[in-house]
Amino acid sequence: MRILFLTHAFNSLTQRLFVVLREQGHTVSVEFDIHDAVAIEAVELFRPDLIIAPFLKRAIPAAIWRRHVCLIVHPGIPGDRGPSSLDWAILNREPHWGVTVLQANAGMDAGDIWASSAFPLRVASKASLYRNEVTQAAVEAVLRAVAHYQRGDFLPQPQQAAELPGQPRPPMRQQDRAIDWQRDDSATVLRKIRSADGFPGVRDTLYGREVYLYDAQPESTLRGAPGTPGGTPIARSGPAICRATVDGAVWIGHLRDPQGEHPFKLPAIHVLGDAVAQLPEISADAETGYREIWYEQRDQVGYVHFPFYNGAMSTAQCERLRGAYVAARARDTRVIVLMGGADFWSNGMHLNLIEAADSAADESWRNINAIDDLAAEIINTTSQLTIAALRGNAGAGGVFLARAADLVWARDAVILNPHYKDMGNLYGSEYWTYLLPRYAGKAQAEAIAQARLPMGVGEAREVGLVDEHFGVSKADFESQLVDRASRLAHAADYAQRLAAKHARRLADEAEKPLSRYRNEELEKMKHNFYGFDPSYHVARYNFVYKVAKSRTPLTLASHRRRAPVIRQRKVS
Ligand code: COA
Repeated sequence: MRILFLTHAFNSLTQRLFVVLREQGHTVSVEFDIHDAVAIEAVELFRPDLIIAPFLKRAIPAAIWRRHVCLIVHPGIPGDRGPSSLDWAILNREPHWGVTVLQANAGMDAGDIWASSAFPLRVASKASLYRNEVTQAAVEAVLRAVAHYQRGDFLPQPQQAAELPGQPRPPMRQQDRAIDWQRDDSATVLRKIRSADGFPGVRDTLYGREVYLYDAQPESTLRGAPGTPGGTPIARSGPAICRATVDGAVWIGHLRDPQGEHPFKLPAIHVLGDAVAQLPEISADAETGYREIWYEQRDQVGYVHFPFYNGAMSTAQCERLRGAYVAARARDTRVIVLMGGADFWSNGMHLNLIEAADSAADESWRNINAIDDLAAEIINTTSQLTIAALRGNAGAGGVFLARAADLVWARDAVILNPHYKDMGNLYGSEYWTYLLPRYAGKAQAEAIAQARLPMGVGEAREVGLVDEHFGVSKADFESQLVDRASRLAHAADYAQRLAAKHARRLADEAEKPLSRYRNEELEKMKHNFYGFDPSYHVARYNFVYKVAKSRTPLTLASHRRRAPVIRQRKVS
């Protein structure tokens, strides 16, 4: 079928549906919901069999839904309505939640139901639930709805009048989740911040400044006086500050100061600056505190965890991770698994910290070199076999950093964005010019870099970016991962594999030294950072400040290209 996505943005859920529906053989084109007239034009150009709205912030024009079946993906259970569904579900401690696929009509989220899918509501941030449970449920429900639609004999179910609260639930306001530090226990504080993370954050006061709080984690031992006037933290750890509650304390990793010089989300200590310099500090690599990097070892397999917020890797984080990796390599193990985080493996350089730096060009340069240093250590590891274990998505430099490992194993639901060009034609480094042709072949490497499209694990495996994929749920992936990594460590051909890898590296190095790939890439990056063309700086600014797109990129809106080039393919 020809399916048109009408969506506010090409976010993670939309990308996953795009990938899954194309894998099923459908032709999918995307139009951002910018203006009614533009949406109507897109429908006329593409002439879709079906319209799907994976992520909308406003109603579909009647001129469209009266003539076409439009399926809206609503992140709520049947009967729930309104724009803050997930926020309310988290705040109200719902045990289960779900996704409902509704047909657009005149009432908001009030149309007939084509399919729904439910899940237990994990204790997690809104963004994490959205990227995982909600996205998985959306895939299941949309696939069922599309199958019903294709069969042609399905009658969507009207919502039961009794189930509907009559009106959509109102958007959640700051006062609905305001923290009362004199009364709220840690669980309540965590729930309030998580209901607003990644957007819009919880408005609060720190050192007398109005800031928005994100990235909350529990603290197990620290205690202090809650509700100090103006909000004074009791400790710091890595990027985070710790605040006392009535029954304990919580870590807050990220803040946004709308009145500040850099009014976007940044590590908390960066926003608070000198004010937190004197706070007692707990190492971010210690067993307590806000843990950013840690190591575990089981059965001759070392696991390096680095759940950096949003998968963004700053210069300092890359340097610390490199240190942790080198230390892991010195241990008596046979396999090292690079675990990334549960939600993201890596999204490359830390664009927000670059934007906030005195010189964005200099900080970009430091950041890319720090990632390259880390990638070089991984590529040059001869003492162990290495695995990048992708539990969550990876983008841009993060994909190639993963490919620096000998093996890339990905969870079945993972989406990769193996391209840099959307960031203002950034050339990219991380030794991608060595790694991509090596694993994908020269021609394929060029096509991947140009396509600028998200990729599911099936396609990623075909083109050599992923070696194995398994397990839809994280629990399933993680248990299979441990099993497979330990089998690899004890495989009969382990020694041959290690020797073959070493020999291959030596041969590759003799043909063209790794340093030459890096220098060539960085030469191009210098032009991106310091050159005449400001595209990278403009694109990064737009990304960090979340400037709304004024048109849909032609890579996604195939109906706006003269000759459609989006390939249709079936991945088994
Ligand atoms: N630096 C800083 N923040 C980043 C980031 C990066 N490299 N990559 C993602 N983020 C943040 C986003 O700003 C967003 O923040 P929020 O918490 O305020 O919502 C969050 O991570 C999720 O990203 P989002 O873009 O909403 O996720 P997505 O799943 O829709 O898209 C990507 C994933 C990877 C395609 C997209 O995030 C992206 O293009 N990132 C930039 C990659 C890049 O160019 N890196 C630099 C070159 S190495």
